[in-house]
Amino acid sequence: MVVRKEALVSGVEFGTRSRGKPWNRVSGAEEWVDLDRSFISRRYDRLAGLIPFFDWLLFQPPGFRRKAVDRLDLKPGDRALEIGCGTGRNLPFLQQAVGPTGRVYGVDFSPGMLAKARKLRERQEWSNVELIECDAADYVAPEPLDGILFGLSYNTMPHHLTVLHQAWSLLRPGGRLVIMDAKLPPGLGGELVRPFGVWLMKRTMLGNPYIRPWKDLARFTDQIEMEEFMLGAYYVCRGIKP
Ligand SMILES: C[S@@+](CC[C@H](N)C(=O)[O-])C[C@H]1O[C@@H](n2cnc3c(N)ncnc32)[C@H](O)[C@@H]1O
Repeated sequence: MVVRKEALVSGVEFGTRSRGKPWNRVSGAEEWVDLDRSFISRRYDRLAGLIPFFDWLLFQPPGFRRKAVDRLDLKPGDRALEIGCGTGRNLPFLQQAVGPTGRVYGVDFSPGMLAKARKLRERQEWSNVELIECDAADYVAPEPLDGILFGLSYNTMPHHLTVLHQAWSLLRPGGRLVIMDAKLPPGLGGELVRPFGVWLMKRTMLGNPYIRPWKDLARFTDQIEMEEFMLGAYYVCRGIKP
């Protein structure tokens, strides 16, 4: 069992996991325990119908998804990938950005979440959206990508550095990688919401609030931008591949 506390995050382990429940009664309520990926996938199968409710419950900033996709700077004909595409709530923006001549790939390992994304694709009659069920660490795109989005998914992946490494290898030079997510706000605000945030994440989305993706991205490029929303509770972080 690996306990991830804030101080440990910069030295993230590759592919660590544990079985069982996402809380650790012995070590304390605010610690984070990485979970087996099959546990995470099953959790998302059960949450699939509740994603719009969580967007509302967690005060997702208005227009957040569109703003994140905008940061990909996609143009008609581009190739884009969403890692952890879930039920497809970012797909309309991605599909619109690349247009009918472009292509969107969506990867997710939860069959329940992907089933909803597939229904959306059918309803919208998108012929250029490909949805793939697999662990993001194993996904290999059939062509170089112009943009990659982690839509509220990066901090749900215990092996996020492995996944980021793989994603980066799929990006063409000049391509953009965007991570949009929630985080603990800075200062006293963060300290105050931390116990509730950790408690809620363990019981719902399993997003590790101690992960700092912008630092992970800085291992790959020095072309990094960070935009914060809602007093730092949400962010969009972008890295450009040299
Ligand atoms: C909070 S949901 C976000 C879904 C969607 N991107 C959105 O913005 O609504 C996180 C998604 O990441 C997926 N996910 C987590 N770990 C994954 C992995 N290792 N490989 C593929 N998908 C993963 C989950 O199944 C879930 O659908």
